[in-house]
Amino acid sequence: MNSNQRTLYDRIGGEIAVAMLVDRFYDRVLKDPELEPYFRHIPMEKLLAMQLEFFSAALDGPVRYSGRPVDQVHKGMAITSRQLSHFMRHLMATIEFIHPNEQETQEIYSRIGLMADAVIDSSLPDSE
Ligand code: HEM
Repeated sequence: MNSNQRTLYDRIGGEIAVAMLVDRFYDRVLKDPELEPYFRHIPMEKLLAMQLEFFSAALDGPVRYSGRPVDQVHKGMAITSRQLSHFMRHLMATIEFIHPNEQETQEIYSRIGLMADAVIDSSLPDSE
């Protein structure tokens, strides 16, 4: 089986790698003063479990995402494109650390980035 037939999930190292990715990614997110206030009252254990499912499914792993639809979850949070770009920068840095392969880093970044419109509030001024 060549690398194009294996799922992105397997190519980056499967369950252990995705678990590490989600953990380290949220460590960074929670240290960012631009993002941290959003998570202050959120039960992180549950969120991390949902994100583990979400990322595993988004990378074609053998997992079903059982959480709420991403657009509904972020509705009313007033997330700007600036905050989303902080979030995506932390994601990029984390993938590069866990699995320093440019192609897969770009693939993961684009897949998660597809959800950008569902997350940001386009009525806000810096969301252009
Ligand atoms: C493309 C980017 C993003 C994706 C794919 C994404 C995805 C998700 C998912 C799958 C959940 C779990 C839903 C559940 O528990 O049922 C979640 C929860 C959450 N997200 Fe995001 N997210 C993104 C960006 C952001 C950003 C930029 C922020 C804040 C600035 C944010 C704040 C939150 C918060 C606070 C929760 C917890 C909501 C709750 O439990 O009530 N997200 N997100």
